[in-house]
Amino acid sequence: MTLAVYPGSFDPVTLGHLDLVRRARRIFGSVVVAVLDNASKRHTFGLEERVEMVCAATRGMKGVSVDTFSGLLADYMKTKRARVLIRGVRVVSDMDYEFQLAFFNRRLGPNVETVFLMPDGKYTYLASSMVKEVARLGAPVDSFVTPMVARRLRQKFQGGV
Ligand code: PNS
Repeated sequence: MTLAVYPGSFDPVTLGHLDLVRRARRIFGSVVVAVLDNASKRHTFGLEERVEMVCAATRGMKGVSVDTFSGLLADYMKTKRARVLIRGVRVVSDMDYEFQLAFFNRRLGPNVETVFLMPDGKYTYLASSMVKEVARLGAPVDSFVTPMVARRLRQKFQGGV
């Protein structure tokens, strides 16, 4: 059974991310969503909160688990003995950064293959940063994230429940 790792900040997880998890799971027997634990990178949500949201959103998805990692992704891949790394590509402009990431990950761990997946077209322009901006400015984000994440965003930015 091939294990695929889908790493990211997930700050917070969006419906686009979840679409990608489902697509990855259709191809690979087991998918680990690996949430970045990086104290020096400023995230809106803390690690625990990000993990909690990913866990809730992926609950019931067979073959999908959630983990955290810090340090180099290539090292984490070695620890997990995982040889497939999933990254989502929405638009061509994503490729610049993604190829750079894949290049370094290949140099650091030559046994790992980065597999790029394209989300459903309705998620093409969806990004956590934009969702946060929308939420911060008080508009509903229910069509971009799960109800739990929408609630957390409201709590974070509007002090709502
Ligand atoms: O969701 P993101 O922020 O686009 O995910 C980026 C992520 C977490 C995959 C990337 O920043 C990462 O792997 N960071 C860990 C450090 C690392 O291995 N960097 C790449 C080689 S220098």
